[in-house]
Amino acid sequence: MVSGVVVRFRYALRPLMSANFLYIWHMKRVTVHESQSVTDYPNNNTIFTVWKFREGAEIKPAFEQLCALLANLNHSFIIRTLNGRSTCVMGVGYDAWTKLALPTPLPRELKPFEPIVGPKHTAVATPGDLFFHLRGTDMAACFDMITAISDVLSPAAPSPAADSSVADCLEEIHGFRYWDGRSILGFVDGTENPVGNERQFYAVVSDEDPMYRGGSYLFVQKYLHDMRAWSNLPTEEQEKVIGRYKMSDIEMPDGVKPANSHSALTGIEDENGGELKIVRDNMPFGNPAKGEVGTYFIAYASTFSTTHKMLQRMFVGDPPGNYDRILDFSKACTGSLFFAPSLDILKQYSAATT
Ligand code: HEM
Repeated sequence: MVSGVVVRFRYALRPLMSANFLYIWHMKRVTVHESQSVTDYPNNNTIFTVWKFREGAEIKPAFEQLCALLANLNHSFIIRTLNGRSTCVMGVGYDAWTKLALPTPLPRELKPFEPIVGPKHTAVATPGDLFFHLRGTDMAACFDMITAISDVLSPAAPSPAADSSVADCLEEIHGFRYWDGRSILGFVDGTENPVGNERQFYAVVSDEDPMYRGGSYLFVQKYLHDMRAWSNLPTEEQEKVIGRYKMSDIEMPDGVKPANSHSALTGIEDENGGELKIVRDNMPFGNPAKGEVGTYFIAYASTFSTTHKMLQRMFVGDPPGNYDRILDFSKACTGSLFFAPSLDILKQYSAATT
């Protein structure tokens, strides 16, 4: 009798244990809350773009189309580029999140970025509804991705009357890898970035905000450098500004590293002495003939408060007044916060037709 029940129970389970069921069960466990490609390593070419929705435009269908397009572009470029390292990440700003009626409550730390005013320099806050971070081994991949995105947000029109744009591009910056990963200031940029599994830990939301697991706080700033003033500074002085040696990229020892160096003010810890990190993928950009040369700063973080604390220390200083000397040579011209939702949120909003 007992064995008959066991046999019937086993037969009842058989369809559930089929390969299909196991696959779905497995995929639910591993892919739910998977992040966009926020932890990718820096690539050779990048396009950063910020978009603002037009007042009264029908934005929801365009957003749904973009969610589907993003999945398509990412899948396509894994095949089409030799090492599959061409990716596209989308971030959504606070106002846009509300206008698009995306889930509530919002990601805990997604708020409009407020300016941080220091004794001499200010981290300005500038508008932005959608942000795209396109990385490619070749500029061709970035170019094709931004073309496809622009076709959705601002399709070419034969006349102004036929313009069906739902958003305007506020900024499009083409960044490039400069020699061995150096910023235009000549110092390697990114050395202390988390590597391996640490990237996921520091860049991606986990149990601290269960509804948004797999998402990431994406913060960007466009900096313009005063290259004349910087070039007039002897190398030893430049090293004191950054807190590292220029050629070797080795960090200055404590006691030698000035308290107002970039490294001293951005290398931070929590109250228990644990390192607080963000994942940066800054890129140089420039148009020397126009005198516009800079660094596009981009950081992904599991909590925006870490990035904010770094900004506070850079602009206000620690103690207040001891601000980051890098700012005497680099002016923040923009500053916006976005949230890069997990892939499953994007999938939820993907237009079925695309
Ligand atoms: C003009 C813009 C900037 C430039 C050119 C720049 C450049 C650099 C360079 C050359 C380094 C040393 C190597 C490295 O570890 O990456 C560095 C370190 C770092 N930067 Fe920046 N940076 C800029 C803005 C920012 C901003 C706005 C933040 C934060 C909000 C930031 C956060 C960091 C952090 C966390 C480190 C590592 C510190 C350490 O642990 O030693 N940077 N940056």
